[in-house]
Amino acid sequence: MSKTILITGASTGIGKTTAIYFAEKGWNVSATMRTPEKGKDLLNYPNLKIFTLDVLNETSIKQAIDDTISAFGNIDVLFNNAGYALVGAFEAMSQEQIKKQFDTNVFGVMNVTKAILPHYRTKKNGMIINTTSMGGLITFPLYSVYHSTKWALEGFMESLQFELKQFNIKVKNIEPGAIKTEFENALDFVSTKDYDKYTRQAHKNMLDIYKAAPTSEIVAQKVWQAVNDNSYRLRYAVGGRGPLLLFMRWLLPLSWFTKMVSSQVEKGIK
Ligand SMILES: NC(=O)c1ccc[n+]([C@@H]2O[C@H](COP(=O)([O-])OP(=O)(O)OC[C@H]3O[C@@H](n4cnc5c(N)ncnc54)[C@H](OP(=O)(O)O)[C@@H]3O)[C@@H](O)[C@H]2O)c1
Repeated sequence: MSKTILITGASTGIGKTTAIYFAEKGWNVSATMRTPEKGKDLLNYPNLKIFTLDVLNETSIKQAIDDTISAFGNIDVLFNNAGYALVGAFEAMSQEQIKKQFDTNVFGVMNVTKAILPHYRTKKNGMIINTTSMGGLITFPLYSVYHSTKWALEGFMESLQFELKQFNIKVKNIEPGAIKTEFENALDFVSTKDYDKYTRQAHKNMLDIYKAAPTSEIVAQKVWQAVNDNSYRLRYAVGGRGPLLLFMRWLLPLSWFTKMVSSQVEKGIK
């Protein structure tokens, strides 16, 4: 019997590419998104269904999980992928923007995870994969709040894996470096006059990194590897300079690493 993956944020980018990748490998795919019209071109795959899921809406989460189980009989893998980045000067960010960033990237993941656990516990089997980020273990300027959501996810999942092992539930984090998707177009960028000189240049330097970024296909391949390697391994770095940067962070004293990041991302700022 074919296995089933439920993906959040499957309308574009990593989620969409992973949906296609798994559908082409013969899996049943529940491609969930908040605006189903965006997924029309995915409907060419007979083993793929689109369901409405906004990670900020608990009713839609429960409904999408129920609909997926009705359609395919079972869920084997939950891919918590939906997310976006609030970027810029922290002082300029409104409480509402900060809250929405945490609601989407952290509480959204917690809500979908909580909603799937009864299903996994009952059948004593399942997997939760998350798109965290290399930015869940290292940091760059202007992404303070985004980083704090991804660091939260890393800690949450690292701890959660212990209690879920007794039910044969695996937890895995995919940690991409810069990847070419709609991510950079969806950035919520904020600044103010006092920060402008710094934020504009650092933001430009960060976006320059995206110019050489690989496409989301390599992330889909990494998700495939993580799903199929039959291990309880937690972390999978992938993409661009991500794996190298994580290695350097592990190797170097933090002050050296910070200098290295600064020399790239704060280039041109006096
Ligand atoms: N691209 C990178 O360089 C990179 C690097 C590291 C980690 N990541 C992470 O990878 C994940 C996917 O991002 P991406 O690069 O593929 O960017 P993307 O192309 O912008 O995709 C983001 C997806 O998240 C969805 N989304 C946003 N808010 C949502 C909500 N409230 N409920 C449901 N879906 C929501 C978007 O849906 P709509 O179409 O409705 O907006 C879209 O489908 C994110 O968690 C991101 O933090 C990306």
